[in-house]
Formats: sequence, structure tokens, C-alpha cells
Amino acid sequence: MKSAAYIFTLFLLLSAACARNSGDPDAGMNRFLDSLISQMTLEEKVGQMTQYTSNWVVTGPTLSDNVEEELKSGRVGSIFNALTVNYVRSLQKIAVEETRMHIPLIFGFDVIHGYKTIFPLPLAEACSWDLDLIEKTAALQAKEAAAAGLNWTFNPMVDIARDPRWGRVAEGAGEDPYYGSLVAAAKVRGYQGDDLGSPQTVLACVKHFAAYGAVEAGREYNSVDMSERMLREVYLRPYHAAVDAGVGSVMTSFNDLDGIPSTANKWLMTDILRNEWGFKGFVVTDYTSMNELVNHGIAADEKEAALLAIKAGVDMDMQGADYIHNLPDLVKEGKVSGTEIDKAVYRILREKYLLGLFDDPYRYLDNQREKNTIRSKEMTDHALQSARESVVLLKNDTVGRKPVLPLSKNIKSIAVIGPLGDDQADMLGSWHGSGEAKDVVTLLQGIKEKIPETKVRYVQGCPVAENDRSGFAEALSVAKSSDIVILALGEGAWQNGEAASRSDIGLPGLQSELAESILATGKPVVAVIMAGRPLTISRLADHAPAIVNAWQLGTMAGPAIADILFGDYNPSGKLVISFPRNTGQIPVYYSMKTTGRPASGQKYTSKYLDIPNSPLYPFGYGLSYTRFTYSDLKTDKSEIGFGEPLTVSVNIKNAGDRDGVEVVQLYVRDVVASVTRPAKELKGFERIALKTGEEKTVTFTLTSDNLRFYDKDMKYVAEPGEFKVFAGRNAEDVLETGFVLK
Ligand code: GLC
Repeated sequence: MKSAAYIFTLFLLLSAACARNSGDPDAGMNRFLDSLISQMTLEEKVGQMTQYTSNWVVTGPTLSDNVEEELKSGRVGSIFNALTVNYVRSLQKIAVEETRMHIPLIFGFDVIHGYKTIFPLPLAEACSWDLDLIEKTAALQAKEAAAAGLNWTFNPMVDIARDPRWGRVAEGAGEDPYYGSLVAAAKVRGYQGDDLGSPQTVLACVKHFAAYGAVEAGREYNSVDMSERMLREVYLRPYHAAVDAGVGSVMTSFNDLDGIPSTANKWLMTDILRNEWGFKGFVVTDYTSMNELVNHGIAADEKEAALLAIKAGVDMDMQGADYIHNLPDLVKEGKVSGTEIDKAVYRILREKYLLGLFDDPYRYLDNQREKNTIRSKEMTDHALQSARESVVLLKNDTVGRKPVLPLSKNIKSIAVIGPLGDDQADMLGSWHGSGEAKDVVTLLQGIKEKIPETKVRYVQGCPVAENDRSGFAEALSVAKSSDIVILALGEGAWQNGEAASRSDIGLPGLQSELAESILATGKPVVAVIMAGRPLTISRLADHAPAIVNAWQLGTMAGPAIADILFGDYNPSGKLVISFPRNTGQIPVYYSMKTTGRPASGQKYTSKYLDIPNSPLYPFGYGLSYTRFTYSDLKTDKSEIGFGEPLTVSVNIKNAGDRDGVEVVQLYVRDVVASVTRPAKELKGFERIALKTGEEKTVTFTLTSDNLRFYDKDMKYVAEPGEFKVFAGRNAEDVLETGFVLK
């Protein structure tokens, strides 16, 4: 027997649908939601603000008993980590058919770089500089996750990060806010599409708001403290871009910012996010980050934590059960108003409505679609292309009369040596969703498939991290009896992502020692580095003639790296995060300031005694098997007024012997301003394909809008004066010209 509330809800849905044609698309929705909320009890409302994880385990899904009871009593609005159509359906059925208000659940999951088909780590794919590819990857992730019953991904993670000791650099798009903002918007478009109600799109969640990537010393969950100018000019920009792209949810970050933890930070969650940026979706905490306000020392107990969070503008409590245990009392005590609760509930229900869950709570639950979509050829084909474009060629010396890479396919014998050479699990990287190691094609497998006639032998040599050199002898023996050695070095998947900060970001364990012993044999060596962060590989860079940075590329890692090693794909990746020479150099990033004593040979200037100021490999760096030459950088005017466009042009020629892709980068420097300004800032780029011998003139348009910054009075303005313009293949290797803003 359906409850009166249910019948009335259906009536409201119908009237909402009719109202949609009334010219005001939100009128019907608002009428429906307002009326629904008016029928809910306080406890049911706070239930919608409550999210729990399912206890999905390999042997099958279970929810701890009390959560199932809570669900039946209408005290749960969302479940995360519930996977597969059948399991999600079983939970949705309880919410829709056994509760008084029949409000559907929203199901979330960390689809960060894939649900079942695993794409390259986000940091890796960002090195493609291919925004269309990045958007399509997000769209395919959404399609696969939605086919498994999910409606919400806790992504994109857009935290700007300039400290690779922090394991979560793996999840973002690197150090630059201009590029990071473009990637953020592309991912929101990909996940949400242009119809959130489609069962092939999911709600996105931009995280971790805010500035989590700036944790002190790169130590996970640590404090963040910075000027408002740095915050607004660098760290906030990608979140803002995601909001402008229409993201439907925001996740608070674990860190405090200038003494206020994000989950209790009204300035962030309401003043900036909603009042300045116009965000309409809902805010969810990170995992128990509300309860952690007690550990932060700004709440005496969880009740006070709940009060701080609701007053800050936080709508949903992830896993903390803090709202459900305390908000009803806070309302009864008059400390929280019913209106504040209704606003939070409205924002959550609005996204459920836009997802189409009220129209059809089982819309995402189609067993046949799940079967046809998961790990489809469409997914793995795209995963391969994304992996190819993510790889960055760091070094490729000429030995004899030709470059070491690409390798000939007629090689008689190859030794693959190192702990990352045939490890399926490590190719998945951190946050690999529901991806399974068994589906991964390793580097060894990729090479064998590529050159089946060649004798390919694999020796681990040493483990990823343990100090065990018992495999060295075999590794040396196989190396000596092979024509060439491919060293497969790097990190385990567990060594990046959340709770994976490292105080020393060198090759873990005995890998450097293994590499040196192999290099000492004098055999030609290609080093393939597979990790989720930049590693300090200065010694390897001194001795290995070729180095390929292959990150952790997911399901199709092996075939992608083999395509590059043997020249079936000309590497086009460019770094989006600087590679430090050593851990002591961190933070090092291209947009640093010049200081009052710019580094020079003179003693008393800003530098180290033991290393250059420049990183081992700079932002925007990546080699190709062909050679691109730059010439004739010029501007169409020597000066412009405010609002007047300036055209910058530069010629690029493919002067090598094979087709290739180049990422032409445009940087600007504000030479004199009311505050100190970075030596360079990325203001544009163009990813261009050039056939051998082909050349192209790339043009960029700048106006004073592109030159704005927060001046000494924190006004976001451009100031007149001299500007330098740089264009080139990376942040260091550029041509220079300039103009004046009058
Ligand atoms: C984790 C992460 C966050 C993730 C959430 C749900 O602690 O910080 O990125 O989305 O919990 O798994």
C-alpha cells in the first residue's frame, strides 16, 4: 500500500513535469522540492544530509546492520562505495519502497581515473595537454560508473600542488592554475555532460575545497597557511573554474586554512563559494572531516562540530553521523533554524532531481547496460590513447649515430629488469576505483606482444621498496646476455594517493643501486619510470642514455609504453609539475618570483650552494622523436590600451624526420607592478600536430583581462607598464619579446 506522501509526491512530480513547459524550467522543480520538504520530518531532513559508506568487500557487499536500519527509517540520503547494479538496486529499493517519503538515494564513488577500466593517473593524463581527450576520459568514466549504478563521482580533484612529497599530487593536474582550471572545467563537462538526467552521466564533485595541495611540508592532512593573494591567484582558481563549468557538488578539504578547517570555514563555503561564485549545488564533507574539527581543536565535541559545519554552509556529512546525531537537538535548542536545514536539504534534493532520480529511481540500474559497458572496447581503446599521450620522454641521447629511442623491432634479445616491469597492480595507481589488476597489461606483456620474435626476459632484480638485493645477480646476468636493457623502476601504487606522503621522493628501496649496477655493465639502457609523482632521479639522469616517464597508466599501460619504446607513437607528453633535483629543492615550480637578488654567479644571490635553482626537468618539458624549431616570435603591436587585443605569433617547424605533436606554450611576465609578480605565468598553449617538414604559425590573443592580478589593495586589476612575452616548448626554453600596456 503506497503512503499518502508517496501518492502526493507522484502528483507533484507530474505537476513539475508540466511546469517545465511553463517557461521557467526551475518553477516546477522548486514547487516539487519545496512541497516535498514541507512534508518531511526534521529527522528525515537531516537524514538527507547524512551519507554512509557501504562495506563493499571482495566477498560481497554488506552494510553494517545499523546503517541498514538507519536507511529503512529514512535517516540516510546517500550511500557511497556501493557498487554494481544489483547491490545498488537492493539499497535503492529500501529507500524508495520501504521509507515514508520514498526519497531515492544518491550513490557516490571515487571514480578518479576510471571505474573498472582504469585510465592513467590524473597527473599523467594532464601531461597530454589534450583537453578534448581529458573531457572524453571523464565522459567514459561516467558512462562506465553510471552503468554500474552510480550517480555521483567524488571528482575532479583539482588541488594545485607544488610539493611532490604529498602523495595526492597524483590525483590532480599539477602546479599551474591556468592549466589546472582548464582541466577542471573539462572534467566537469565530461562527467556531467549536458544532461545530468542521462543514465550515462554522473554528478561531479570538485575537491578538496580548498588549497589541500599546499599542506605544509607535503605532509598529508597537514595545515595550510598562505596569503589571501596567493590563495585567490593560484589555489582557488581551479575550483572556481569547476563551479563556472556547473559542477553540482563540492567536497571540503581536511586541512585548516589560516586557522579555520575547511569544514567549518564559512568564508570559503558561503562567502566565496556561494556568494561570490554563485555555486548552486551542495557541499559534502570529506570522510568524517566534520568530526575531525574536534581534533583540530576548534570544536569541544561533535555537537559543536555539527553547529560549526552547518553555519559554515556544509550540507552533507560523509560517514561522520555527526549531523544525524546532533542537528535535531541543535534545532530544538534554537541554535540552528529550520530554514538553515531546509536550505541544505533543498540543495541536496535539487541534485537528485536533476539526476532524474525522482522521475525514475532505478534509471541507473540496467543489468544489460552494465554488461555491455563495463570494460568495453570503447573504454580500453580510449585508455590506450590516453596512456600514449600521457607519457613524457625525459631523455634520449644519441649513441653512435642515432638516438637510443625508438628501439628497433628487430632487436634479438631484450632484458626487462626492475620491480615495475611486470606488476599488474602497480600499473593501476592509487584511487583505482573498482579496477582489477588482472585486467592490466604490463610493460613486459606489452613488449612481448609488440615484438613476438624477440627474446624478452624479465627479472625483478629487487622489490619496489624492501631492501632485498637477492635478485641482483640474476638481473646482472640477464642484462649482460641481452642486446639492451629496459629498466622498469618507480613506485608501488600504494606509494601515491591519499595518506602516501614521502619525506624522500627518490626511487624507493634498492632501485637506484640496481640501476647503477645495470648501467655499469655498459649495455644500452632505457629507463622507464612508473610513479604517481615526480621522483628525484638526478643520478639516473646523469647516467641513463634514455628516460621515459610513464607514470602509472592503468589498464593499458603495457601496450602504450611499448608503442612509444618502438616508435609506433611519437611521445608528446609535457610535464605539468616540475621535477626537483632533490627533495631539498622542494618547492620548485616555474612561476616563482625573481627575489631582490636573482640567482647569478655572484655569491650573495638567491640560490643554493650545491644545486642550480632550476628543476631537473621544468614545467612544460617533454621530448619528441622529431625536432621542433621555433622562430619569429612577435606581437602585432608594441603597445595596447586596456581592453585592446594583442596578437602574439610564433612559427613552429617540424624539422625532424617523423610526424609529431608539440605543445606550444605562451608565458607572460609583468615586469613592474604594485606587488612582486612571478617571473613567468602560463597564459595560453596550443597542442599542434605537424608532419615532418611542416610548419605553422601559432597565434595567441592577449588583452588586459589576461594580465589581472590582486594588487597591493587586493583589487583584481591589470596595471599599465611593461610586459614580457615568452613562447616555447617549456617554461625554460622560450623565445622572448614584449609589449607595453598603456
Ligand atoms: C577520502 C578522500 C576523498 C574521497 C573520500 C571518499 O578520505 O580524501 O578524496 O573522495 O574520502 O572516499
